[in-house]
Amino acid sequence: MISRRKFYKISTLAGMGVVAGIGAPAVNSQAKNFSANDKIRVGLIGCRSMGWANLKDFIGNPDVECIALCDVDKAVLDERVKDVFGKTGKKPLVFNDYRKLLDLKEIDVVIIATPDHWHCLPFVDACKAGKDIYVEKPLANSIAECNIMLQAAKKYNRIVTVGQQQRSGIEWVKIMGLLKSGTIGEVNRINCWGNFNYGAGRPRVPNSDPPQSVDYDRWLGPAPIRPFNENRFHGFWRMNWDYGGGLLTDWGVHLLDMALWDKGDTLKFPETVTASGGIMRFPGNEIQTPDTLNVVFNYGDWLLCWEHNGGIQTGPWNRNYGVSFVGAKGSIIANRETWELIPEGKSDKPLTEAIPQQTNKQNEHQLHVRHFLDAVKSRKQPDCSIEIGHAAAVTAHLGNIAARTRAVLTYDNINKTFNNPEANKLFRPEYRLPYIFPTF
Ligand SMILES: NC(=O)c1ccc[n+]([C@@H]2O[C@H](COP(=O)([O-])OP(=O)(O)OC[C@H]3O[C@@H](n4cnc5c(N)ncnc54)[C@H](O)[C@@H]3O)[C@@H](O)[C@H]2O)c1
Repeated sequence: MISRRKFYKISTLAGMGVVAGIGAPAVNSQAKNFSANDKIRVGLIGCRSMGWANLKDFIGNPDVECIALCDVDKAVLDERVKDVFGKTGKKPLVFNDYRKLLDLKEIDVVIIATPDHWHCLPFVDACKAGKDIYVEKPLANSIAECNIMLQAAKKYNRIVTVGQQQRSGIEWVKIMGLLKSGTIGEVNRINCWGNFNYGAGRPRVPNSDPPQSVDYDRWLGPAPIRPFNENRFHGFWRMNWDYGGGLLTDWGVHLLDMALWDKGDTLKFPETVTASGGIMRFPGNEIQTPDTLNVVFNYGDWLLCWEHNGGIQTGPWNRNYGVSFVGAKGSIIANRETWELIPEGKSDKPLTEAIPQQTNKQNEHQLHVRHFLDAVKSRKQPDCSIEIGHAAAVTAHLGNIAARTRAVLTYDNINKTFNNPEANKLFRPEYRLPYIFPTF
């Protein structure tokens, strides 16, 4: 375990070259040749909730070794060193500046599980350093960041997967097979919804000093300076635009992704995006993103509809989150736990055969990780390529931008502009100096 003094020494030394690019790892776009028995050496950036959930499923594989951890909270790092030691008998190296972790030549793969505003910089630097990447969803906190990450992965020839683990789910593959074979006829509407208590934010509390263990300036990173508040910090940053996009980017990417999977994986931009919502249920809470929202993405011949209600834990079809594919001959209703097919037509003359409720018995996250490791070795595309993660995240951001501008939005992807000047301002965040938006 590192002492607080040593932790800040690492931090201060690294801080001498904080401008992204200065002190960034050397460019290395070579692909290592793995044999089936070779170990894949992993470093984790962002070690708290999902970071640890990911790492556990990585080190559960015999061909994975955890080399290093990076977090800006020393308390989280200390805990994780103990956890990794408990599971592997080995202590990983620790850093509070991800660039030091990327400098380690022996690391093959990095997992990025920082808050959404902190995905883009480490991702682009990891591409330049020749690492393969498991990056959490949503790919990034803006459309411009998603675009630059897609370019970086291609330019440096990296194997990347995005943490949309449904893509590895055996039940979802079955559902996609039914949809593609026309079992429920043409699907002209796909509804996705996510109702969760945490989408309400929490009752306001005064700003305070950050915990002693935290390098708060580095936690803010490229986001604007704001006083510390525990309701905008670990786990709760999601409902603040500078760090996340609320339930639509948090859960929406998982579910919109299932709709996009059915409709073909390449990003197609909707003809229009309209949204309506706001902070309607919890105006006294620490929250900037809508607690109540509807979005309609109109693709010309089908509608993709999103709905969320923060603070509510029930929903359509008795599921607090899910997807319904509405076809001419029937509907398929699904979430991670269960799915079923409900036919159209009279009960004695159904237009297609009913499928009673099916239960998902697989751990799709473990499969997602294993398939990514296999892709790193084979250099083939994993289940959720960066293109897929990019499409889901960009679609979710379009919905949020429509909600924030209250405009009937159209987006021109050639010129990267909206039909609305306020929307154009939301395309790319202003990075706080000395952080610089990546370019190459
Ligand atoms: N795939 C899924 O099902 C799933 C589930 C939950 C979360 N997520 C995603 O995982 C990511 C993390 O979410 P979380 O709930 O674990 O958040 P969290 O707040 O619990 O943890 C984030 C960690 O990142 C650390 N961090 C912040 N800036 C850092 C930096 N510059 N360098 C290193 N560490 C830094 C924080 O100190 C914290 O320990 C988010 O993108 C989220 O959307 C995905």
